[in-house]
Parts: sequence; structure tokens; C-alpha cells
Amino acid sequence: MRVGVLTGGGDCPGLNAALRAVVRRAASEPSMEVLGFRDGWRGPIDVDTRPLEWADVSDQLDRGGTLLGSSRTNPLGTEDGIARVRAGLEAAGCDALIAIGGEDTLGVAHALAGEGVPVVGIPKTIDNDLSATDVTIGHDTAVMIATEAVDRVRTTAESHHRAIVVEVMGRHAGWIALRSGLAGGADAILVPEQPFSSDAVLETCARVSARGRAPIVVVAEGAVPEGGEEVLARTGTDAFGHVQLGGVGDWVAAEIGRGTGSSTRAVVLGHVQRGGTPTAYDRVLGTRYGLHAVEAVVDGAWGSMVALRGDDIVRVPLADAVGRLKTVPPEQYAEVQALLG
Ligand code: F6P
Repeated sequence: MRVGVLTGGGDCPGLNAALRAVVRRAASEPSMEVLGFRDGWRGPIDVDTRPLEWADVSDQLDRGGTLLGSSRTNPLGTEDGIARVRAGLEAAGCDALIAIGGEDTLGVAHALAGEGVPVVGIPKTIDNDLSATDVTIGHDTAVMIATEAVDRVRTTAESHHRAIVVEVMGRHAGWIALRSGLAGGADAILVPEQPFSSDAVLETCARVSARGRAPIVVVAEGAVPEGGEEVLARTGTDAFGHVQLGGVGDWVAAEIGRGTGSSTRAVVLGHVQRGGTPTAYDRVLGTRYGLHAVEAVVDGAWGSMVALRGDDIVRVPLADAVGRLKTVPPEQYAEVQALLG
């Protein structure tokens, strides 16, 4: 049996751990081989493949990025996209496909499964906004990087008696902001799920400054001021229709500066959060997902995604994963407010 595998959408640390586990678990199945498709859904469409054997995934456990490359190619964006993916899989001689991705990539996998293509999904995205799983590959590393950034800006903010705003990723969900803000002891945490009041942020900063401390604000890139709109880095959208966010950190810093009259700075972490070495947690999670995805292939569990529930890896329908995004529940956001500035 030949199993194709691809990584689509934004890359993240831990993808190579998953690929390594897929290849090495498949090696213990009689007559199973793994074929890699390059750059997400572009791979099957262009039949752009590379063999994946035991040696190809050596020294990959601690490597960020994805050895297969990634892209935001969207087969659902063209009328014949799904048919072309299907034809590409056939041309490559694949009997099954493991798709590693977030909402967009797995949305395509779900559509393929609906057409009878034997596909299994593995969840990844630093944003952790995929439903039906507790955690996605890459999220833990992003939270760790953002937390370290908060720790680091704190000392310089204190030295200069100024507020610093840290902008983290999180298009529709504030998981990275919430968790790094909590872990780093931020004074305000702004998430996309809850429009924020500039006045409330100003009051918080004034209170923190009055205590002789430097205010630290963590803001998700998709956070919006009350009555306002998302701040865009540039116009235009990608193949999945997503705008490029970025700039809300500068906007909030300018507001704080205007309102308090003190000096402020903004730090945009951007793709630093998606790069470099995965944490031990993401290596283990990626590895477990890879192992269980091959088992799902062996069992013919088509149209399913491996997912984390508590400490167990389970199978869920792809439909449950892509139906709606997993956002920060209001009660989880509310419970941290007592700790903030
Ligand atoms: O993968 C999700 C994500 O990291 C979002 O948080 C962010 O908005 C987006 O990717 C950035 O994507 P790109 O790499 O295409 O700029």
C-alpha cells in the first residue's frame, strides 16, 4: 500500500516529528510505503512528490518547518481542483493520503473524503483554533516563544518606565495571547473573541504605572477595538480568502501613548512564533499523531482526523474538526481578568 502525505497552510514546529513518525510507523507494516507531496495541495495537483524512507526523516525530530514544504494552494478555489487532486493521487499511485493541516487544509481533506478519497487528517496550527481536538501541533511552541518575548520586554519596559505592547499571532482565536499573557504575567490581554475598549486598556496602564510598574499588553493580531475593525498589514487575500493581519500592536501602543502621554513601544512577533525548534510537547504530540494516523490508515478509518482528548489520541470525523473554529470561551477569558493590571 502506498500512502501519500502532505503538509499544508502555515508551517509550524512539530510537523517534521509527525512526518518522521508516519514514515517509521509505516515501515513496520508489511508492504506499506510513504510518498511525500511537496508544498501542500500543490503537490498532488502537480504530482510533485519525493520518496520518504527511514533515512529521509533522520535528524528531523528537533527541526522546525516542514521537510515537505507548504503552501496555501486551495483546490476548492477552482472548479476542477478536487478532480485534479484526485487525478494526481492516482498518477502517483497512492492508495491513501494523510493530510497534515489546519482548518483550510483539512477542509479540503474533508471535501475529498466526501468524494470517496481515502484520507486521514492530522491537526496542526499554532493558533490552536481547530475544533474537535484539545491541542494542535505547533501551539505549545508558539506559546513558549511568545511567553519568552513577554518576559524579555518586561525588563526593558521596567528600565525605561514605558508600556510595551506585544502583538502575537491569532487570526480568529486568542489562545496564544491568552496563554502567553497569563504565563508572562501581562497586565492586559486582548483577543479576537472580545472587542476591547481602548479606555479600559488606558485605565489599566495608568493603574499599573501608578504602582511604579511598566504595563505589558499582549494583543492577538486579530483583536479589534470596540466599534472598530481588524487592522490589516496590507490589502488583498490569500487563496483561502484570508486577509493579512498585522499592526494592531502599533495601534494599541499609539493609543496608550496618546492617552497617558508616556512613551510606548510595540513588538510584533510575527513568524518568529512559527519558526525554529519545537518544544518537547510538540515533538511528542506530533509523534503521537503520526503514529495514530498510520493506524487509522491501516484500519481504513477514512474521513477521520486524529485528535487529542485529555491524554488520549482518538479519531474524530473530519467534519467535526472543520465545521467551526475553536475560539476562547468567554468564561475562560473572564476567569483571568482578576489577575490583570
Ligand atoms: O498559520 C496560522 C497563522 O500563523 C495565523 O496566525 C497568521 O495570521 C497566518 O498564519 C500568517 O500566515 P502567512 O504565513 O501566510 O503570512
